[in-house]
Amino acid sequence: MKRSIRLLTLLVCLVSSPALSGPPSASAANPALDARITALLAQMTLDEKVGQLNFPSFTLPRGPQIEAVTAGRIGGLFNVVNPVHIGEFQAAVAASRLKIPLLFAMDAIHAFHIAFPAPIAWAATWEPQLAERAAEAVANETAQRGLNLTFAPMIDISRDPRWGRVIEGAGEDAYLGAAFARARVAGYRRGGLATAAKHFVGYGAPEGGRDYNGAQIPNAELFDRYLPPFEAAIAAGSETVMASFNTVNGVPVTANRRLLTDILRTRMGFDGLVMSDFAAIMELKNHGVAADLAQAARKALHAGIDLDMESKAYARHLAEAVRAGQVPMAEVEEAVRRVLRVKYRMGLFADSPQGVRKTPPPMPETDVRRRAREVAQESFVLLKNSGATLPITPQSGTVALIGAAALAINDHSWYGPAGLDKPRTEPLLSALLSRMGSGQRLLFSEAFADPCGQSFKDKDDALRVAREADLVVLVLAEDCLAFGEGVSRAALGFSGVQQDLLDALAEVGTPIALVVETGRPLALTETLGKVASILIAWHPGTEGRIALAEVLTGEIAPSGKLPMTFPRSVGQIPIAYNDLPTSRPATEARYTTGYIDEKPTPLYPFGHGLSYTTFAYSGLKLSAPDMRQDGQIEVEVVVRNSGARAGKEVVQLYTRQRVASRSRPVRELKGFRKIALAAGAEETVRFTLKAADLAYHDDEGQRVIEPGPFTVFVGGSSAADLKGAFRIVADN
Ligand code: BGC
Repeated sequence: MKRSIRLLTLLVCLVSSPALSGPPSASAANPALDARITALLAQMTLDEKVGQLNFPSFTLPRGPQIEAVTAGRIGGLFNVVNPVHIGEFQAAVAASRLKIPLLFAMDAIHAFHIAFPAPIAWAATWEPQLAERAAEAVANETAQRGLNLTFAPMIDISRDPRWGRVIEGAGEDAYLGAAFARARVAGYRRGGLATAAKHFVGYGAPEGGRDYNGAQIPNAELFDRYLPPFEAAIAAGSETVMASFNTVNGVPVTANRRLLTDILRTRMGFDGLVMSDFAAIMELKNHGVAADLAQAARKALHAGIDLDMESKAYARHLAEAVRAGQVPMAEVEEAVRRVLRVKYRMGLFADSPQGVRKTPPPMPETDVRRRAREVAQESFVLLKNSGATLPITPQSGTVALIGAAALAINDHSWYGPAGLDKPRTEPLLSALLSRMGSGQRLLFSEAFADPCGQSFKDKDDALRVAREADLVVLVLAEDCLAFGEGVSRAALGFSGVQQDLLDALAEVGTPIALVVETGRPLALTETLGKVASILIAWHPGTEGRIALAEVLTGEIAPSGKLPMTFPRSVGQIPIAYNDLPTSRPATEARYTTGYIDEKPTPLYPFGHGLSYTTFAYSGLKLSAPDMRQDGQIEVEVVVRNSGARAGKEVVQLYTRQRVASRSRPVRELKGFRKIALAAGAEETVRFTLKAADLAYHDDEGQRVIEPGPFTVFVGGSSAADLKGAFRIVADN
């Protein structure tokens, strides 16, 4: 009791001012820009002001939209990808009264032309610089066509693999998510596009993983878990933020002034523009918070939505609402001011303070492909490898490659502009053949009629080659249409007849190395006992099958780690590594936290991933046993490559605050570094652990750095067991 009173007293002293303090507002920082915008606003009619807030998708025929641009009734367009059409719109801007430039946007998420692996694979590299290089290349290709804004990065923290959009993000962890948000924003911007950090906020937490569903997010979690990637994206310069579709604690984000204005703008200091998601203002009617489109427009604007993507609610209703005195002119002007400020900052105006935006020179396609291959090479996660089944060596004997995905000549997750040819890739079959030893036999069976195994082409043929071989490499793919927006899944197995084939192959008895192409964690428990190895290849992109052949043959050792927990079964979801402790920590015994018909642990934890070698951790040292609330300590550990081959390891550091005023997660990632080690080599890896990184938020959203005892864990996954202890001590 005494202890808790002491903690409480300390807490009161320590509660600091708002945690997420952003950059100073642009007007404070740049009065000259503010004056320019004020002068421009003074020349604008009400209809022209409302026009700046109107953000429709490109439609055919083009005539009406060209006319609307000339009349100043459109502020930006998306999905115009043909430079000829962009040129026509630019001419319409030049013919308009005030010549205010347009935003040209699209979802350049992991591809414009050359497909990079899916973004979840970027996170599986645990190498933010690779994500930065990837985003730069995607942006570079997109910007060459005349576009200036991407609806990316998607930085929603997602802890439920049933949600289809986990493929677009960086997984379940705020620290990893923030590192990748920062890198992706920096990369896109260097490649020539402004960014839209999306979806602010809580879209990744829909109940039951059902897309668009409401999220319930307590304050402490909002600040500790969901906002850090947005804070990082804003600090990295994201010019825009996209609001999410769903409700958070019962209020749709599109009409949520607390989230969009009080938190995003006032507390986090974001002074760029906020756009709605696609038709989200119109959908306020479906949410039951607006009787009609006119009311939806008023609510969204008041909440803090500047740009109306696709609903046409602002274009139809804002001017009349201002004239009727229902909406203050100042509210419209504030939104216009933000749109103009971003256009100036992007260098779209001839007299922009940073100079006129220049598209970076085109990156040669070979460079883009090289970068795409690098990401793929570093992203594959080897979950299991009994008896060193992989890599394929001459000693592996005859290999049977099975699965129609091995013939795929492009990436079926490709999300590029309509009307553009998908870039071709070398299929796995030929990539593997050219990398295997000349004396070695490679048998092949397509087995399925399609790459995702919806139906069989020839099951018997697959069984025949398996019988003839010493090793089966089986490629299974998540249902090609089962990921992304609007495709949540209730079951997380293989689609079609794929499990049927796997079961039949297991009966044959030839060891199986399973390659899985997926955009989300799957529940692979049934599969586990039937295969010797599992390599998660994600959706690997245009160069991905070549990278896959390189990894399967050991030219490159796998080095990816899971950015999201793999559950044993759907009933275990949500399960993440950083849950809170409970009164009865989960064990297999009764009366502890868990299920009587399921193990307490996940199938594979966050951070897990093997290589073809092994790593040993020792010599954990802390520079001091204590740190002050504004202090830091150094943590070092010796990592040795204890196997016989070179490899890369992601060294991970986790902490746990053992005693605090509220339960703190059983582990939290607070540092990571990917290192390369030759066989037998060792390296001392050092991390700086700051008290500020150990802060958390209370129910009121106040940030706390609370004195108390901590454990630090270092190792190759969130299950790391090498540990040390330190304390945060009060400043006085
Ligand atoms: C998605 C956004 C996307 C927008 C425009 C929406 O359905 O939720 O992520 O940027 O469409 O394509």
